[in-house]
Amino acid sequence: MRDIQELIKNVEKYKTMLVQRSFKSKKNTVAYVVSNGQPRILKWFVPGLKQNMDIEYNVLKIGFSDLAIPSPFEKDTENNVLVMSYIMGENVCDFINNPATALEEKKKVVCLLADWFVHFHTFFKNEDEIRLRGDATLKNFILSRGRIYGVDFEESRIGRPGADCATLCVSLLSTDPMFIDEKFQLCQTFLDAYRKSAKWDIENSNAEISYALLERIQWRPKDEELLRKYATRIKDKGLQVARHNF
Ligand SMILES: Nc1ncnc2c1ncn2[C@@H]1O[C@H](COP(=O)(O)OP(=O)(O)O)[C@@H](O)[C@H]1O
Ligand SMILES: [Mg+2]
Repeated sequence: MRDIQELIKNVEKYKTMLVQRSFKSKKNTVAYVVSNGQPRILKWFVPGLKQNMDIEYNVLKIGFSDLAIPSPFEKDTENNVLVMSYIMGENVCDFINNPATALEEKKKVVCLLADWFVHFHTFFKNEDEIRLRGDATLKNFILSRGRIYGVDFEESRIGRPGADCATLCVSLLSTDPMFIDEKFQLCQTFLDAYRKSAKWDIENSNAEISYALLERIQWRPKDEELLRKYATRIKDKGLQVARHNF
């Protein structure tokens, strides 16, 4: 992964920006900077992912005034950089996996996440299709003053809302601490809250979660055995039963 300094040193318009923090990213280079006294996020896409930049920019541009997502400021196609607003807060993955936080607090946040998804899917729905956020992992959400914000829309696509929900459940189950009872409870809370406020049904959630667990193996080859074990259990017995060890 490239260092953000490479961009800031070499491109005139970024030279005055002050880097406050670099984020861990799967492929792109993401940094929180201050530009003319204003907090900003720079997302520098790897050269092959120009199309992803266009997808993310369009989601932000169309949705930012109605949804809890960053505001886009600039799409710099020459350098493959998106400039957007900075959302201050705690990463939801860290919040959910903090052993010191009470389960009731985590359940509240998971209900807010479900509301966020229902808003996103409702906003981007038309008569015959629904746009998914894509890459629906806990890391792509920020808890800011009691509100949930979503970030990272480069994998947004048309699909079944159940696929986004399944990815979120898999992120709950398979981030450390993995597959503990609390995680199964949080998945159930999430799915119940989503179903309660969505105007459509999500079908076969056990099969979707099972499939999404198998997909996760490509990113987590070391955990292949565990992921396969739970994928089979959830598909055959359902979330509720799979949670008990037997
Ligand atoms: N607008 C933003 N405000 C605050 N933090 C952000 C923002 N955008 C991204 N981040 C942080 O940077 C991380 C990486 O950004 P992301 O867009 O997810 O890149 P990647 O797609 O390469 O993973 C996110 O997980 C999040 O913690
Ligand atoms: Mg991300």
